[in-house]
Amino acid sequence: MAITSNLRKVEEMRKEVERLNSEAHTADQLMEGITVLLNKEMLKYNWVGFYLLEAGADPPMLVLGHYRGAMTPHTRIPLNLGICGAAASSGKTVVVDDVKLDRRYLACSLETKSEIVVPVFVRGQVGGELDIDSHFLAAFADEDRELVEYCARLVGQRLENG
Ligand code: SME
Repeated sequence: MAITSNLRKVEEMRKEVERLNSEAHTADQLMEGITVLLNKEMLKYNWVGFYLLEAGADPPMLVLGHYRGAMTPHTRIPLNLGICGAAASSGKTVVVDDVKLDRRYLACSLETKSEIVVPVFVRGQVGGELDIDSHFLAAFADEDRELVEYCARLVGQRLENG
C-alpha cells in the first residue's frame, strides 16, 4: 500500500537524518547532507533547499543556501513575498497542496505542484527555513511534515551551537 510505504520510507529517512546529524561537524554540512539525502531518496521531493535569514538586513531577506534540484530565480526572498516569506514571517509550517490555488506562490519551476516550507528556529527566533517542492499534487502528508520539521529542528540546534 502506498500509504504504508510512505510511512516506512519517512521512518527510514528519519534514521538517516539522525545519522547525518551525528556525523556532521557543522550546521553547513548537516544542511548540505539533508538536501542531498531527501532529494535523492524521496521520490516526490523534487527540489529541497534551505533559505537563511540574512543577518542585519533591512528589509529582512531570506537568502538561498544549500539546495538540490533545478536552479531557481528566487535566491533572495523578502518576508512579505511567497510561501517562503509567509512561513518565515508567521513562524509556522506552510503546506500547499496545489500551488496554482495559492496566490502567495512564487513560481520556481513550471513542474512544481505542491510545496512545504518549515521555519528553522534559532534561539527562539526564525533564522531560516527548509523548503521542499514537489512535481506531485498534495505530496506532503502528516508524516512528511513531521520529517521536514524534524530536519528543521536539528538544523536549528546546530545553528545555535555554531
Ligand atoms: N515557491 C517559493 C519560492 C522558492 S522556490 O520554491 C525554490 C515561494 O512561493 O516562496
